[in-house]
Amino acid sequence: MVIDEDISFIKNYLKYPQPLVWATSDDDFSFDPKAIFNAGIQNHHIANTAYPIAHRSTIWNYRLKPDEYADAIQASFAVNDEFCLYAHIPFCERRCGFCEYVVMDSHDEETEAVYHQALMSELALYVAMLDKRVKLGGFDIGGGTPALIQPHRIGQLVEQATKAFNLQHDFSMSIETTPKIAATMPDRLANFRSFGIDRISMGLQMVNPKLMRQYGRDINKVGYNRKAVDSIRKAGFNRMNLDIMYGFASQDVEDVIKTVQYAVNLSPEYVTLYRMRYKGTKIVNESTQIHLAKVNRMYEAASALLLSERYEANPGKNTFSKVQGDSGASAYLTKRVAHSVPYLGVGLGAQTFANNLLAYNLGAATKKMERYCDAVNRQTLPIQDLYRLPLGEGMAKMIAVSFYFGEIQLNSFQKIFGVTLQQRFPKEIAFALNHGFMQYHGDTLRLTKQGARVFNGLVALFYSNAVKRYLLEGGQHETL
Ligand SMILES: C[S@@+](CC[C@H](N)C(=O)[O-])C[C@H]1O[C@@H](n2cnc3c(N)ncnc32)[C@H](O)[C@@H]1O
Ligand code: SF4
Repeated sequence: MVIDEDISFIKNYLKYPQPLVWATSDDDFSFDPKAIFNAGIQNHHIANTAYPIAHRSTIWNYRLKPDEYADAIQASFAVNDEFCLYAHIPFCERRCGFCEYVVMDSHDEETEAVYHQALMSELALYVAMLDKRVKLGGFDIGGGTPALIQPHRIGQLVEQATKAFNLQHDFSMSIETTPKIAATMPDRLANFRSFGIDRISMGLQMVNPKLMRQYGRDINKVGYNRKAVDSIRKAGFNRMNLDIMYGFASQDVEDVIKTVQYAVNLSPEYVTLYRMRYKGTKIVNESTQIHLAKVNRMYEAASALLLSERYEANPGKNTFSKVQGDSGASAYLTKRVAHSVPYLGVGLGAQTFANNLLAYNLGAATKKMERYCDAVNRQTLPIQDLYRLPLGEGMAKMIAVSFYFGEIQLNSFQKIFGVTLQQRFPKEIAFALNHGFMQYHGDTLRLTKQGARVFNGLVALFYSNAVKRYLLEGGQHETL
């Protein structure tokens, strides 16, 4: 087994010398799956798809120097025949109490113009750098609230990206809005549609007024949601997603059911269930007040209702779709998750992952845009940290991302790493299969209903040894 593995790596290396996935001596050791599974459950607020955990104590040594960035990026993106693009718009009317994203404290026309210029310049740096034979497979404009900025600025962004790169035959674009903007500025939606954006996602989140007040979410006020959906339909969108959040300490299962029923009555093509992630939010202290069993009851009640309304999703998958053959997620996310297509993130704090290269833009930690804009104005890549991940970390990142859809794609894994998932994780897979937590389904290893309840323990089985060790030592101290 070890010999086969080595040969695959050599073959891969000869083909693409730069993005070599190194093995480290740490990769040879394997922990007891049961201990790791338990540590993942115990640290369920951090053991999830947002990998890696605790950068400083786990992946810090794999950072490259700034003068190595351009070569590493070029090489990593040249490996595949397509990539996806994400542009981050860090503005909102006000920050919701639960939000985990990179959102600035204020928004005004001047700041928006400066940021937009920087974003366009950053994209231009990548346009000049990336191999044009690699096609653009999907483009997400997210945030924050991208619908909040002047629509012509979204148009310019779309034009720059779609003119610079060859587009994949199934290329498509998605954008995010709040109910308030969709309800009160319908012209914007028509503009987005005219730019070729064909999917729109709106944050419904919750319908309990008490919860909305508690988290400062008045952009969902009664009256906006129905009007917003009417405007979205009138603008010509027939791919609409509604986001719903669950897992709050002061929310009960009934609240979640009411929200899902409300969403279903708005007839979206897709519904995405977001389990509250506390790390880095203003309400991080609430994380200890909610138990995994209650969170699972919320997900299961929401899921059962959606399935009964003919929305489809396998256990553990968060996006439910009513459209046959459509995952419900954007092309950008679907390709990222289901096919491990590399993704480039531009904008404040954006994340990039291409094979074994992982990067975070400036602003990821500070949520301030000055350093990001300064870097771009100096014509340098606005990267805060760029890592060339070793084998165990690259695999863990790929698998954590694929758990968004509740399954690991076996062919994609083998294609990237030159070994099968079964060769690399025999004990871990046996543990998951023997407990009835996962099962083979076509070309995937998929969560069962029972497995979806203990997803945090299962995803941890595939983490790198450094991160497993961190979880075993009690986790949380660095991240929460
Ligand atoms: C970037 S937001 C964009 C939507 C838009 N700004 C809005 O709030 O209506 C994408 C989604 O992430 C989810 N979200 C926000 N904070 C989260 C958190 N801390 N944990 C999990 N999901 C979160 C929400 O469901 C939100 O709709
Ligand atoms: S949830 Fe949406 S509107 Fe609220 S702060 Fe986050 S990105 Fe902005």
